[in-house]
Order: sequence, then structure tokens, then C-alpha cells
Amino acid sequence: MVKVVKSTSDLIQERAQETKTIGFVPTMGNLHAGHISLLERALDENEVVYFSIFVNPKQFGPNEDFNKYPRTLEQDIKQIEEIARKYPQKSVMIYAPTDTSEVFPPGYNQTISTTGLSTVLEGAIRPGHFDGVATVVFRLFELVKPQNAYFGLKDYQQYMVICQMVQDLILPIKIVGMPIIRETSGLALSSRNQYLSAEQKEEALILSKTMKKIGALINGKKANLNFAQAEIKNALTDSRWNYLELRDSQTLSMNLGQSSKVTLLGVIQLGSTRLLDNLQMEIQ
Ligand code: PAF
Repeated sequence: MVKVVKSTSDLIQERAQETKTIGFVPTMGNLHAGHISLLERALDENEVVYFSIFVNPKQFGPNEDFNKYPRTLEQDIKQIEEIARKYPQKSVMIYAPTDTSEVFPPGYNQTISTTGLSTVLEGAIRPGHFDGVATVVFRLFELVKPQNAYFGLKDYQQYMVICQMVQDLILPIKIVGMPIIRETSGLALSSRNQYLSAEQKEEALILSKTMKKIGALINGKKANLNFAQAEIKNALTDSRWNYLELRDSQTLSMNLGQSSKVTLLGVIQLGSTRLLDNLQMEIQ
């Protein structure tokens, strides 16, 4: 069964009656197979799934794509209903606030500011972005009070910021990170892929191809990190890259001396569209 609530007061009312285990999937809508994998995992692991669809203005910078971000609510609801049909004994509560003031009422004046992790990589290029993400996710967590919450690992830094927030604020929520879903070409699924022309979509493959190449160079061995760093330097001569960096997977530190798991994080910019990808590797 799927139910849609559009106001926070309705959400609070529904939540107050809930006695079952809740899995939560926060999204900005315009669902693709990546989001669906979160929904399915949440349905597998919980009796009830709360699924939010809210384009959060706090995580967009002044010159970013908040206004043009794709909003496809009817289509999204249909997709969720289709999946929910496969789980007849479970229910999905969609929270799709119609207005920003439902989530952030006038006068709302709190910011969750995660330092450190939030100021490198994406955070350095998009100041305030992760504060916006942490603030809305915290607010949604407080409203939904889930036991488990599901996030895509494509936004690895976002996942790290949320794990840090949950740990620091002692929130009783288990965070589950779900693997990147890719097109057969290798392109990681993203709602922003639809901004790309056919030509740019072809160009975008540089992201996954470079990741794969560097992953193969490392081949699970710490001793190969030097070769990888040289290849990264070489790749970065292409000005389409915003960044391409190897970081420790647990801390996002650049110091990989003690690392047993590293993440290659990269962003390319095609026109006004920025595309993110990453690759996780165990090394020894
Ligand atoms: O990953 C997203 O879609 C968003 O950043 C999130 C977590 C729903 C917060 O708005």
C-alpha cells in the first residue's frame, strides 16, 4: 500500500500511529534505478518505508540549478507504486511537501554544520552545500524517526557527512550506503544526466573510464598508489575535471599511509552540468 502525504502535520499524524520498524529513503525526486535500489532495500529490511521527495533549497548555491531541478512527482509516485506492488504485506508512506515552508516553517533558524568533512572536495567548490544537506536530513530524521535510513554511495561525501552527523548527535539511526547504479556504458545514474546532450553524454564517459583505469592501475596494492597519483595528475590536465582525488575512505584524508580502503572521487563539468562519480578500493 502506498500513501502520499503533502503536509508536515499529516506526516506527524501518520508517524505518531506507527508501531512498526521504519526504513527511510530521503530523495529529491525524479527517481531513477539508483533511488529504486534504495527503496527495494528499505522494503526488504523494514515493515514500513517512509520516502521523502523534496527539492531542498538549502543545499543549492545561488547560481545552481534549484529552479530547473527536474520535478516529476506524478511519475515518481507511479514508480513507487509499481515497486510497492511487489511487497503486498508492506506499506510506503510518501512525504512530498508541496512547499518549502512545510519543511522549514517561517522563522526556522537552525543549521547543522558539519565541519572538516564538509569543507573539502564538493564542499570546497560548493560552500554551504553540506550544511544544507545535513540540515534537511536532520529535520527529516526528526520528523520520520526511522530506525534505518538509505543513501546512495554515488554521493560518497554526502554519505560520510551524514554518518558523521548521526555519530556526533547520537541519533539512533542505522545509515545504509547503497552501491552506485550505472548505465551499461558505465555512466553513474543521476537526475542531472538528463541535462546532458547526446554528445555530452558520450563525453561524460571520461568519468567512469578514468576511474576504472586508475582502479586497474592500483589493483588492490598500496605500492601502486604512486602510479595512480601520476595518472591522476595526467588526467587533470583536461580542464573538464573539477577534481579527481584519492582519499582515505574512512576519513577523506589525503594521507593514505595507514589506509586499507581508499576512494577515488571525481567530478567533471560539461557545460553547466557537474557530474560526480567515485570508486572504492581495498588496498594492502
Ligand atoms: O541525495 C539527495 O538526493 C539529497 O541530497 C538528500 C539526501 C535527499 C537531501 O536533500
